[in-house]
Amino acid sequence: MDRIKLAVLISGRGSNLQSLIDACADKSFPARIAQVISNVPGVAGLARAEEAGIPVAVVDHKAFEDRQGFEAGLNEVLEKSGVDLICMAGFMRLLTDGFINPWRDRLINIHPSLLPAFKGVHVHEQVVESGVRFSGCTVHFVRPAMDDGPIIIQAVVPVRGNDDADALAARILAQEHRIYPRAVRLFAEKRLHIAGGRVLIEGAETPEDALVNPRADDGRNSLSDI
Ligand code: GRF
Repeated sequence: MDRIKLAVLISGRGSNLQSLIDACADKSFPARIAQVISNVPGVAGLARAEEAGIPVAVVDHKAFEDRQGFEAGLNEVLEKSGVDLICMAGFMRLLTDGFINPWRDRLINIHPSLLPAFKGVHVHEQVVESGVRFSGCTVHFVRPAMDDGPIIIQAVVPVRGNDDADALAARILAQEHRIYPRAVRLFAEKRLHIAGGRVLIEGAETPEDALVNPRADDGRNSLSDI
């Protein structure tokens, strides 16, 4: 089996990168990481990649006069490593149409909310403040508008009454680490078919149950019971 080649773009801690490194450590996983690129020097994610023996590059946005120059710098590394799919994982730079369009349908991102709700930054603060009962995370194809594009996979977590942003972030992060490798696997297995704004997934099973929060006190918590 040919494994597709991934590039992972990071700006920091790299725990999602680590979940992809761990998935790719299994030789039967249909992808491998060929390149990690950070726009910030010295971040923990770079050390994780080096530890795993993955080629790393720093393309520091501050070293370029404008976004176009920065994106040309990214493309130079990406083209040399001949990647099939770019995974943005905590990559904190906005990319322009000039970068995104040539990589259309080969560029994915993970965002820590149930898109299209709660785009942008300080997501968990916004969620806690809003009073919604559920949040989660989303892996999606990237389109030029921020945190926009066809959704591949989502995971849902409850928001608890005593949550602060950090507690919620930790609960969601654990789910991010589950869904990002799954999204990459589905892409590599060519099971994702983009139809307009939607992604149809070959052979996908949808859970039957819905969740209710707060939990129903009659023991019937899923909508299928009600
Ligand atoms: C994650 O919550 C991701 O969804 C968001 O930024 C965070 C990055 O965390 N875009 P890490 O660097 O992967 O640990």
